[in-house]
Amino acid sequence: MTLRLGDTVPDFTQNSTEGEISLYDWAGDSWVVLFSHPADFTPVCTTELGEVAKLKPEFEKRNVKVLALSVDDVDSHKGWLGDINETQKTTVNYPILADPDKKVSDLYDMIHPNALNTLTIRTVFIIDPNKKLRLNFTYPASTGRNFDEILRVIDSLQLTDNYQVATPVNWKDGDDCVVVPSIKDPEELKAKFPKGYEEIKPYLRMTPQPNK
Ligand code: BEZ
Repeated sequence: MTLRLGDTVPDFTQNSTEGEISLYDWAGDSWVVLFSHPADFTPVCTTELGEVAKLKPEFEKRNVKVLALSVDDVDSHKGWLGDINETQKTTVNYPILADPDKKVSDLYDMIHPNALNTLTIRTVFIIDPNKKLRLNFTYPASTGRNFDEILRVIDSLQLTDNYQVATPVNWKDGDDCVVVPSIKDPEELKAKFPKGYEEIKPYLRMTPQPNK
């Protein structure tokens, strides 16, 4: 199934290291980061899952739940957890879906056979509380992901959902934002951006981050 930004993501029920998970019920009113890795007991994946455990408070601050997945079974995941905890000096504190029947992997198109045969590659799905897909990306097996970037995107999505701004190149929380070009009325601009804005070009207007 090809999922595109703005699509409602499919629900599923699948087993995990924390018992059976039905995505919609489990997510509730939270955002979700669903991410796949190729296989348990592999080096890059070990570092990634450890990093996500360390970042859990940052995800929680943003009302985000994290959910990992590979096609290994629950016993394999549970056996691997000890290695992640030991080597990455953390405690994995979120569920890892077990997808040996590839139910979720197929539903979310996480297996790209020309890249990695029958294993899931490194996909990321950011899902909002309305169960809409807000971002997805795919990394090759040989490249570990940057989860700080995933937090940065969530900050941008949550900000731009609430204010009529966009975030420019390399933006991070606290930096100036772009005023959306559709607002042209000076009174509306004054009301919506009380901190003011700088007009560099008529289509390029910068304003301090509205919620800071
Ligand atoms: C890894 O996690 O290190 C890995 C997994 C599958 C293929 C290549 C690397």
